[in-house]
Amino acid sequence: MNFLAGNPFIKQDKNEFFFEEVNFIDLDVNTKTPYFIFLENRIRENIKMFNQMFSSHFNKYQGFYSFKANYLLEICKIIKEEGFGAEIISLPELELALKLKFPPDKIIAGGPYLTDELISKCIENKIREIVVYNIHDLERINEIANNLNITQKICLRINSGKYDARLGLNISEITIKDMTRIFSNCKNLELTTVLSHFSTQMNSIELLKKNCISLLDTLIEIQNNLGIEIKNINFGGGFPEAVVFKKERIEEYALTIKKLLDEYKTSHSTVYFEPGRYIIGDAGLLISKVIYTQNDGWIFLNVGNHIVPKFARCTLRFYNLSNVKETYNKKTSIAGIVPTDQDVLAKDYFFTPSVNIGDKVLIANVGAYCLTFSNRFPYTLPEIFLINGNKYKKIFNPIEQHDFSI
Ligand SMILES: Cc1ncc(COP(=O)(O)O)c(C=O)c1O
Repeated sequence: MNFLAGNPFIKQDKNEFFFEEVNFIDLDVNTKTPYFIFLENRIRENIKMFNQMFSSHFNKYQGFYSFKANYLLEICKIIKEEGFGAEIISLPELELALKLKFPPDKIIAGGPYLTDELISKCIENKIREIVVYNIHDLERINEIANNLNITQKICLRINSGKYDARLGLNISEITIKDMTRIFSNCKNLELTTVLSHFSTQMNSIELLKKNCISLLDTLIEIQNNLGIEIKNINFGGGFPEAVVFKKERIEEYALTIKKLLDEYKTSHSTVYFEPGRYIIGDAGLLISKVIYTQNDGWIFLNVGNHIVPKFARCTLRFYNLSNVKETYNKKTSIAGIVPTDQDVLAKDYFFTPSVNIGDKVLIANVGAYCLTFSNRFPYTLPEIFLINGNKYKKIFNPIEQHDFSI
């Protein structure tokens, strides 16, 4: 029995493939490609591993799943059942989190675009924190909170200082002055947390350290100038897929942060993380089909960047499920069906030397951001299945539901 893509929930046993305990053939026989598969138990295992690693090193830790990575109701429901929190950026996401009965204390909301409606709904529902990216939003939140006679907890997103980072507050003498004025005037705001999210697919401990140091320096500066204690530190998301970011790596990551918190005498703080890709990335698969092959090493699949967008930055892995004999030793380039030469899924990828029209190709690690960034190119959307053990169910049917977005 082999695992594909390093994922113990995708197995090959001689000529047969299993997704959890479901035989690929049983699912494929009546299903038109392309279609997505999500592996429920992989999601649960990823959450357990994440919680285990961080709660064993931090006394006070809370994880919040970043809904934007994949906001399908059935996916978010599993995450809620595991007791994980929710990190949301928009009103539709907030409504979904509330519908799924995430406890308000486990929801944090915020982003570059906070509408009055979103702010009001957050405050009315007593969500844990509003994350502010822009200092001007503070007075708007205060006014709404004042009208509702509620004190709202606030997290400030701090610009990570990465060379092209634009999101979050740049801390300077002027910003500190503005913050001091705003927080002393705005009686319905309580500054509790600072956040920095460095980048996506971050697999470098050195970069992590740099980001943490910069955030902790900022935290100390704010505390000293505003004369308050900031209770929570939010290190954002940005972890690679769980098949890439293995147990030892998360542990190294956790220990690095713990050491820095000790050095900065902030180890009493509650530590938050907001993983998206880590939780759902390797739990999502796509089954596609070869529609065309060329002599120059290019093959064409019946999906493209409209469904597997480059923007999603997934660690894509391709497997020829119709060719179990050959080793993956021929450099192959894989194109999609968006009619532009730019629709390239992979270049010089080691694949089976023989590829035939109709071969079924598994694309692994497409759980995060593919649906989010997918566009409305006029092809039929893929069906989506959820597998749990030896059972599966269809959770999206494009003919009946038309769209999966919220
Ligand atoms: C503030 C914040 N938190 C969490 C995330 C989730 O990131 P990831 O899915 O890479 O873990 C993002 C992604 O952009 C983000 O900006």
